[in-house]
Amino acid sequence: MGSRREQQLLAEIGAIVGATGVVVDADPGSRYRRDWSGDNTGLPMAVVRPRSTAEVARIVGLCAEAGIRVVPQGGHTGLVAGALPSPEGDELVVSLEWMNRIVAVDENNFSMVVEAGCVLETVRAEAAARGFVFPLALGSQGSCQIGGAIATNAGGLNVLRYGMMRDLVLGLEVVLPDGRVWSGQKALRKDNTGYDLKQLVLGSEGTLGIVTAATLKLFPAPTQVETAFLALDSADAVVRLYGHARRDLSDLLSAFELLTDTGVVHSGLANPLAQAAPCYVLLEISTSGLIDARALLEAFLASAAERGLVRDGAIATSSAQAASFWQIREMIIEKQRRQGRHLRTDISMPISAIAPFMREAEAAMAALSPDAIVLAYGHVGDGNLHFNVVPPAALDEAGKIDLLARSEERIFSILDGFGGSISAEHGVGRIKRHAFLDRISPVHRDLIGAIKHAFDPAGIMNPGRILEQTAP
Ligand code: FAD
Ligand code: LAC
Ligand code: ZN
Repeated sequence: MGSRREQQLLAEIGAIVGATGVVVDADPGSRYRRDWSGDNTGLPMAVVRPRSTAEVARIVGLCAEAGIRVVPQGGHTGLVAGALPSPEGDELVVSLEWMNRIVAVDENNFSMVVEAGCVLETVRAEAAARGFVFPLALGSQGSCQIGGAIATNAGGLNVLRYGMMRDLVLGLEVVLPDGRVWSGQKALRKDNTGYDLKQLVLGSEGTLGIVTAATLKLFPAPTQVETAFLALDSADAVVRLYGHARRDLSDLLSAFELLTDTGVVHSGLANPLAQAAPCYVLLEISTSGLIDARALLEAFLASAAERGLVRDGAIATSSAQAASFWQIREMIIEKQRRQGRHLRTDISMPISAIAPFMREAEAAMAALSPDAIVLAYGHVGDGNLHFNVVPPAALDEAGKIDLLARSEERIFSILDGFGGSISAEHGVGRIKRHAFLDRISPVHRDLIGAIKHAFDPAGIMNPGRILEQTAP
């Protein structure tokens, strides 16, 4: 148990949230103490589970008075250790898990108001039950929360059609680091009244305040979804096919994912096609209008084959078969995790740079460690690759850490040559902080430092994430 100051704070917080709302000494195996990958661990001073915005505000106000650092925590699926408390046990975790209500749906405004702790899958299911889609789709959607997705500005599989989280939010309610509440819960698609504060909070990774509720955009649910699994000769062919798909599929393209043969083999699942190929594309089109989506997709694939872009392909004949195609994509990331420590990157570049980047980065990895496995996959339409590296099993833990650090440095340096970003959709957190800060100009640093200071002059909210820790 911590200092008298901490004990007094926890007693005061206990009086707000009740005995079950405070977890002290979380079990070492608990999700409050480790991240999804299992590579990183932390020690919460305590975990607090409020039930309302008013409770969050009172808790944060007490922490501000006591100078105690606060870590907002959602579904704990973030991949940059932002929600993981420090190992020193000096950060209080505020978990939003009990604030999980769907507050209201306005069908005529195509919008939904939710509490921040709502799990993404629940939001998607509620939208679907009413004939809408909430289009953020992630492998982690069964666990991640709306607040976490807002804080990280999550992307995922359908960004090329619907945008990232910052495109899907109409309003926000935020508890500021001094305990005041900023109520920006508007439901407007147009609102040009000065600085857009909600866009500052989107992607701020819990460093500017705790999101407690949001108003989300809904879209009409597609009534036709067609999914194809395609074999191609190279990443060049994938990018050329993407260009044709954008032009020929009448804006109905909703996913265009790159996989490699190494990834498909690594998934451990059966390749839907008879012959292996260097690259694959998982392509989806969807529509709710009077369009024959299947005929459109078939015509597109016939013309792609004539152009020599596609070697082979299968169009799913049932939603179960489409799900089995997506399962391959999901199993690549799950299998990586089961293999232990590996390098996860989340990089973006101009779409036109994808193929040359892949060539250069694959050659660099072959030179650095010919036995390492490169698992590259990603969202072609967003220029976003996860160019991941699984180290040789024979290496000991220290050897793996060293190889992965050198691999990341090499990959990032090649990426710099293409004008890319070291974080496309996962954020900076603690893991990417140095790589991020090393790459920005003094002007950029000054501006983000000033924004942090404006929201959090005492430096208590998620310190050391994105920016270096300042006070207290
Ligand atoms: P957490 O991990 O709990 O937190 C993430 C960050 O947000 C932390 O800094 C935390 O302090 C902050 N935070 C959490 N809640 C709040 C709040 N209410 N207010 C303020 N700050 C808060 N991401 C993508 O973009 N695209 C993908 O395709 C994708 N796929 C994934 C697949 C898997 C299998 C996994 C494990 C992760 C994937 N992610 C993906 C990572 C992604 O960042 C998260 O899944 C999601 O956005 C995080 O939500 P969470 O609730 O788990 O947040
Ligand atoms: C994905 C996550 C890792 O695309 O962003 O699977
Ligand atoms: Zn991704």
